[in-house]
Amino acid sequence: MFSKSLIDLYDLDSDDLESLINLALKIKESPKEYMDRCHGKIMATLFYEPSTRTQMSFKTAMLRLGGQVIGFDDPKNSSVAKGESLRDTVKIFANYADIIVMRNPIEGAAFAASQYIDVPIINAGDGGHMHPTQTLTDVVTLKSELGRLHNLKIGLCGDMLNSRTVHSLIKTMSRYEDNCFYLISAKELELPEYVLDFMREHKVEFKTFDNIEDCIPDLDVLYMTRIQRERFDKEEDYQRQKGIFILTVDKMKKAKEDMIIMHPLPKVDEIDVEVDDDKRAKYFEQARYGLFARMALIIKMLESDNKSTAQYDLSDSLCKNPKCITQTETYLKPYVSTVGENKYCAYCDTKIN
Ligand code: NCD
Repeated sequence: MFSKSLIDLYDLDSDDLESLINLALKIKESPKEYMDRCHGKIMATLFYEPSTRTQMSFKTAMLRLGGQVIGFDDPKNSSVAKGESLRDTVKIFANYADIIVMRNPIEGAAFAASQYIDVPIINAGDGGHMHPTQTLTDVVTLKSELGRLHNLKIGLCGDMLNSRTVHSLIKTMSRYEDNCFYLISAKELELPEYVLDFMREHKVEFKTFDNIEDCIPDLDVLYMTRIQRERFDKEEDYQRQKGIFILTVDKMKKAKEDMIIMHPLPKVDEIDVEVDDDKRAKYFEQARYGLFARMALIIKMLESDNKSTAQYDLSDSLCKNPKCITQTETYLKPYVSTVGENKYCAYCDTKIN
C-alpha cells in the first residue's frame, strides 16, 4: 500500500519496494510502453539546492511518461526570495501540480511540507538527512548488476556524517538478510547518532575502518561518497577532510573481479579518473538506472490514492538540531517518533532528550 508521500524509502513496505524495483527494471527493458502513462499530469520540481542528476532525471522521467513539468531550480527566482514560508509555497504548488518533487538544504523539509498538502510529495534530498530516490536508484542498480539485495558486503566510504544517500541506503538495505556494512571514514565524519541507533535497534551488522585497503578484498560493493563541503560550518574543517580517501587503480587491484563501485555523483577527487575505465565502475550506469527508478516511482505514486497513515506524538521539548526545519519554520508542531525508550524528532530524526 503506497503512502501518500515519499519522505523516507524505509516507510514503504517490502512488497511495495519490490514492485517498484521490478517496475523500474521492466521500464528499462521497454520504455516505449510507458510513454503515455502520465499523459495530462503535471509534476512540480521545487529545487532549493543545486542538483544535476536528481532534478534532470525527475524531469526526464515525467517527460518520458508523457506528463509535463513546472517548477524552479533557484529559489531566488520564486517568492521564496520575498520571505514566503515553505508551507505557503507548497500549498500554492499543490494548486497547480499532481505531484511535487522537492529538494531542500534543511533537514526535515519534505516531511514538513507533506503535512500541509494533499498532493503527493517526493523527498529529493533534505539537507544531510535522507535521499530516498537515490536509494531507490541504488537498489535498482544492485538488483540488476548483482542479482540480489541480500548477503552483500557493502563498503561505504567518505562522508558518513553528511551523506544523505548513505543514511537512506543503510536503512533500506538493512531490510534484507545477511548484509554487512563496512564503514570507511575519518572519526569526525562517522555516521550520525540516529543512524547508529537505528543499526543497533535493528541488529544491523557493521564494521569500521580507517582505510580502503584493509577491507576492499572482502567487498561485493564499494559505495564511494564525496566529502559534503556545503554541510560544513567552517571551510577549514572541510579542507582537513578532503582527499583522505581516494580510490585508485592500485587499490582496485585488491578488489574482487565482480565487486562493483557505486557513487551517487557528483564525484570530486575521491575516485581517480583512471578508475572510470575499470569495468567494475558502475556509477554512470547507476545514474541511468535512476531515470527508470524515478519513472516507476512517479507511476506508482500517481496511481495510488492512499492517505498517509503514519502517526506521531507531540513533544514538550523542541528539536535542538540547528539544521532542522523546525528551527526556521517555527509554526511547525514538535512531532516525535518513539522507538523503545527514545524519542526522535519526526522531521530530522535527531534524538530528543
Ligand atoms: C547526492 C546528493 O545530492 O545527496 N547527489 C545525487 O543526488 N545524486 C550526492 C552528493 O551530492 O554528494
